[in-house]
Amino acid sequence: MNANMTAAELTEHPAQIPQALDNPFPYGPEVEASKSAPYSSKKSALAFFLQATGANDVKELEAKSRSLQEEAYKLWPYPCIRRWSFLSTKNAEHPIYERILKLGTESNAIFLELGCFFGTDSRRLTYDGWDPSRIVGTDLRPEWFEKGYELFSDKSTCEIKFIPGDIFDSALLPTSFESGSSATIDVETLKSLNSLAPLQGHVRAMSAFSFFHLFEEQGQFELAKRVATLISPKKGSIIFGAHQGGIKKGSLSRANSHDPNATRFVHSPESWVDMWETEIFPSSRDSSVSDGSIRVKATAKLVERSGPIQPNSTSTMGWIIEVL
Ligand SMILES: C[S@@+](CC[C@H](N)C(=O)[O-])C[C@H]1O[C@@H](n2cnc3c(N)ncnc32)[C@H](O)[C@@H]1O
Repeated sequence: MNANMTAAELTEHPAQIPQALDNPFPYGPEVEASKSAPYSSKKSALAFFLQATGANDVKELEAKSRSLQEEAYKLWPYPCIRRWSFLSTKNAEHPIYERILKLGTESNAIFLELGCFFGTDSRRLTYDGWDPSRIVGTDLRPEWFEKGYELFSDKSTCEIKFIPGDIFDSALLPTSFESGSSATIDVETLKSLNSLAPLQGHVRAMSAFSFFHLFEEQGQFELAKRVATLISPKKGSIIFGAHQGGIKKGSLSRANSHDPNATRFVHSPESWVDMWETEIFPSSRDSSVSDGSIRVKATAKLVERSGPIQPNSTSTMGWIIEVL
């Protein structure tokens, strides 16, 4: 792999791209453990990063990313910074991605990225055709938005709306809402948003990567309840993502952690699907309920990343919640 290849050259030689993505920036065991993304790395990722950051070649991208990584890690030492999370496009590697792109062709469709960090996935959506003025990202820490502007050199041009706030704070996202207006939300309203409340019942597609697993069982449940208020009731609306899961629901030892005693609460694919279909959207499995409430089909799957899935430790779980 020639580190000086440009985006155009990479597109011409797509077979070379995965090698370049495989840890171009060695940074210790955490990076080693995360060579592959939740799903197999797509060939277009590096071409996206070169084009979207304006880097002339891989070397330039690497230099810029290294210094941003240092700065970000000093701000908040999240392990995902060491794992180069901001340099992966998890949405594009998810099996539902083509359907998400198709939803973006509908007029007025709104996309929301939860726990968006630098906003990398949102920018990838833009690169793949979503109207950026109809994409919203939200995160607890506005510092990450600034880092995203630095990485992509687009502070003055980025049309994606980033809204800071704690997802559990009712000022950002009320716990409930009266479903009512199906009126579309115009771009001017999206531009001036300072809470997610106006989006409740309006989001056509929404992602949450490496987000739910930050919280214990009750927190994941509360989060799902809140997130559910955002999705549009229109057939085919989708919430999707990936985070740590396990063969069995419970507190499991944490894969890829430096601390051998670290544990994390995780759902199994079965308990995750049950939660969404029976507790979050209770009419999903009960066809006798015809009260107009949202019905969904949930799917979830553990994904092998670095070796076989271990029964007592966490592994990546990809999932989809689709409105029926
Ligand atoms: C592990 S990172 C994942 C980032 C990104 N989605 C990715 O996959 O690379 C989790 C993100 O969630 C954000 N976060 C943590 N707690 C939050 C909260 N209570 N409300 C909103 N965002 C939160 C963090 O600031 C961080 O950007």
